[in-house]
Amino acid sequence: MDNRAIGVFDSGLGGLTGVRELINLLPQESTVYFGDTGRVPYGSRSNQTIIRYVQEDIRFLLTFDIKLIMVACGTASSVALPHIPDCPVPVIGVVEPAVKRALEVTKNNRIGVIGTSGTINNGMYERLLRENRPDVTVFSNACPLFVPLVENGLTDGEIAYLAAKEYLAPLKEKQIDTLILGCTHYPLLVGAIRAFLGDDVTLIDPGYETARFVRDHLTNHDMLSDRKQGDHQYFVSDSIENFSKNAGAFLQEEIGQQIQKIEIERFGV
Ligand code: DGL
Repeated sequence: MDNRAIGVFDSGLGGLTGVRELINLLPQESTVYFGDTGRVPYGSRSNQTIIRYVQEDIRFLLTFDIKLIMVACGTASSVALPHIPDCPVPVIGVVEPAVKRALEVTKNNRIGVIGTSGTINNGMYERLLRENRPDVTVFSNACPLFVPLVENGLTDGEIAYLAAKEYLAPLKEKQIDTLILGCTHYPLLVGAIRAFLGDDVTLIDPGYETARFVRDHLTNHDMLSDRKQGDHQYFVSDSIENFSKNAGAFLQEEIGQQIQKIEIERFGV
C-alpha cells in the first residue's frame, strides 16, 4: 500500500485526458498535474529544447511526495524519455502502453500512427512496433492542425472532418486496421476521425492505455492507495484563468480552486 500521489505532466492542457483516465480507473489515487502552458507547444520544438523542458517538468514533480510519474504528452514521451537520466521513481510514458495494445489488436499487421511533428519525426512508435513485431508495417503521419483545432473547440463539424480526411487519407489508402492516436489532443477528435475512417479501424488512445499500465504497475508492486478517494492538484506555468476555462473539455469535469501557477524555469538543471 502506498498513499503517495501520482505525478503527471504534459506540455499543456491535453494531458488532462490522461488524468481523466487515471481518475476513472483509480479513483482512490491522488494526482499532482503539471501543464507547461507557458511553453506549449512542445510538438514543433527541437529535440534539445523538449529534453530540457521535460527535465524541468520532472524536477518540479519530484518536489512532491510522489510514487510514480506518468508522462501524458506524446511528444515528451517519444522525444525526451530515452534521454532522461535515472529517476528516483518510475517514469511511465505513453508510447510503450499504446504500442503493446496496438500489437494485441491488429489483425492485418498494418498499423497507423499519428502525432505532432516532433513525435512522428522522432519515429519512436515505429521503432518500438517493429522491434516487438518485425513483420508489422507502420504508416505514420504528422497532423499539425489537430492541436489548434481542439484548442479552439473545433472538434466536430466540417473543419475537423476535412482535417481528418487530409491527414488520414494516406493511411486509409494503406488499409491500416489499427491507428494510434499519438497525441494528448487527438482523443477529442475521435468523432471526425471515425467519420472518415469508418468503424473497421481500431483506435488506440495512449492516455487510456497508459492509465491501465499504471494501474497494473501499482497493483503488481503493491503500491495502490487505500484511500476512499484521491485528491487532485493542478499546476501551470501560465494563466490560471485560461487553464481553468478550458480544462473542462479535456477532464470532463470542472477544476475548482486547486490550480496554482509556478515558475518552471526555476527547476532548470
Ligand atoms: N501534448 C502534446 C503531445 O501529446 C501536444 C501539444 C504540443 O505540441 O505540445 O504531443
